[in-house]
Amino acid sequence: MFYPEELVEEVRMKNDIVDVVSGYVKLQKKGSSFWGLCPFHNEKSPSFSVSGDRQMYHCFGCGAGGNVFTFLMNYENFTFPEAIRALAERAGVQLPEAELSEEARKKAGRRARLLEVNKEAAKYFYFHLRSPHGETGQKYLKKRELSDETIHRFGLGYAGKSGADLVEYLRQKGFEDDLIKEAGLANFSEKRGLLSQFWNRVMFPIQDINHRVIGFGGRVMGDGEPKYLNSPETPVFDKRRNLYGLNFARTARAGNMILCEGYMDVIALHQAGFTQAVASLGTAFTAEQANLLHRYTESVLLAYDSDGAGVKAALRGIGILREAGITGKVINMRPYKDPDEFIKNLGREAFKERIDNAENSFFFEIRILEEQYDQSDPEAKTRFHREIAKKLCEFTEDVERENYLQAVADKYHIGFENLRKLVLAYASQTGFARPVERPRSGVQQRSNPEENAKKAQRLLITWITDEPPIFPKICKYISVEDFTEELYRKVAKRLFADLEQGNYNPAGIISMFEDEEEQREAASLFNTNLPRMDNVKEREKALHDILFSVKKNSYEYYTAKLGNDVNALKQVIDGKKALEELAKTHISLDAG
Ligand code: CTP
Ligand code: MN
Repeated sequence: MFYPEELVEEVRMKNDIVDVVSGYVKLQKKGSSFWGLCPFHNEKSPSFSVSGDRQMYHCFGCGAGGNVFTFLMNYENFTFPEAIRALAERAGVQLPEAELSEEARKKAGRRARLLEVNKEAAKYFYFHLRSPHGETGQKYLKKRELSDETIHRFGLGYAGKSGADLVEYLRQKGFEDDLIKEAGLANFSEKRGLLSQFWNRVMFPIQDINHRVIGFGGRVMGDGEPKYLNSPETPVFDKRRNLYGLNFARTARAGNMILCEGYMDVIALHQAGFTQAVASLGTAFTAEQANLLHRYTESVLLAYDSDGAGVKAALRGIGILREAGITGKVINMRPYKDPDEFIKNLGREAFKERIDNAENSFFFEIRILEEQYDQSDPEAKTRFHREIAKKLCEFTEDVERENYLQAVADKYHIGFENLRKLVLAYASQTGFARPVERPRSGVQQRSNPEENAKKAQRLLITWITDEPPIFPKICKYISVEDFTEELYRKVAKRLFADLEQGNYNPAGIISMFEDEEEQREAASLFNTNLPRMDNVKEREKALHDILFSVKKNSYEYYTAKLGNDVNALKQVIDGKKALEELAKTHISLDAG
């Protein structure tokens, strides 16, 4: 492991999981746990629980779970060491210098400096906007109907008419010229030295999901060219992998995300309450951005400009979203050009209606296609129908394809059977499109003997951790070796050792694993749903059944290994004895 175990435990214990999760999810206390809407899947009623006693979280809907490290790894996409570093910083725990190579250290240092200089520049623009020199910018933003609160929230600023002031300010703050240049904040001129890249522009700081300023967009005052000037790509500004507004949008929980073209569109939508709006960064929407969005939603609504270029961009966007496994829909902005103008003229209620009536991306594509064919010319019309058939072949699932076939045949008055024949003709040439690979959901596992055996092992561990006093009563029947899954065995070994010493620390056990999937699986051992039991008798029977099932599985497991595992024989002999004894033993769960 990267850091010593004691240090990992110290960091974990100094970061109360309820506090940490509350920073991301709205939680409400109910009983001994806190509940909220799961940030890892879409849901309308809370099935996500966080336990302060156990220092763990668990979602009863999607099965996500773990300790405070797992949460950050899952939510922020951090690696284990990154999660430890973030939480160490949060709690003020000093970590030893990581063993980085000279080059890696230099690179990390450079990135940190670039973020610092960006942050300082953002401050400069912000205060400049509020100074007497910022009047032009103030007036402009007022004209665009942004409230002070919105301007503050997005950290908007102003770059004045003089190109030298920002550079002077940054120098005074101790930033070297080549850093200022590398950050894309200034350019070198033979005549006048280092000059600000941005001037006479309203400044939009572009933040990553952790609210760090990674670059800027600047809008010219008036009609100058270019209308928007953006920072160049830098080691901290990757335009393909970030989205404007995502730092706020990712916690919006609207059940969808709205993808726009412009910064002003995002801001206008947030101001109107649609905080799920994001935009790409002055470049075309990318597959990386689609994958990023997929971490937060299954459904993206495109709010692109209603002009020709916007429609083209939307068509491209739909394809990229589809590849990422996201359902795309298109918001109709007409008669306005973009969301900003729409909201200004028709208001938020009207926009909400447009959201609700957003057009399914397939029909959007077909409608655009339709415009390219003269529907009064039979020849052109036939070609149009062929194109529809081609598009239908993109659906890989039979039911879905049939449903669309029916719908599109109805809508465009095409004979269902005729269209179907066309589709089959195309499919026989090229086949139906291959399914896009989707990340596995982690839900739904078919029941089979192996899964049942695992479930019994999980139930037993959950029961023991829920009710540690049963451990002394059952420990003579059960041993670490009875856990036939390797990961389960590791957990049991540690848990049993802890319990024998009178310790009880499941959340700490999870940190034995560095991989997020393993942490999640380890956590599932402590969060299995125990059957509902009304009285002691039922509880005793349930516990007995679970023990017996674990024991029996273990016996069968080792019997199968007889002959090529020296350990197996002893397990089989002991196991048989224990099973027989267990069969006639009553384990009492009465208090005392
Ligand atoms: N853009 C750009 N460079 C330009 C023009 C546009 O990078 N010269 C990007 C910006 O990210 C901008 C987006 O494209 O936010 C949308 O541009 P456009 O539709 O032209 O502008 P609006 O968002 O409508 O801007 P405004 O409302 O301020 O006129
Ligand atoms: Mn606009």
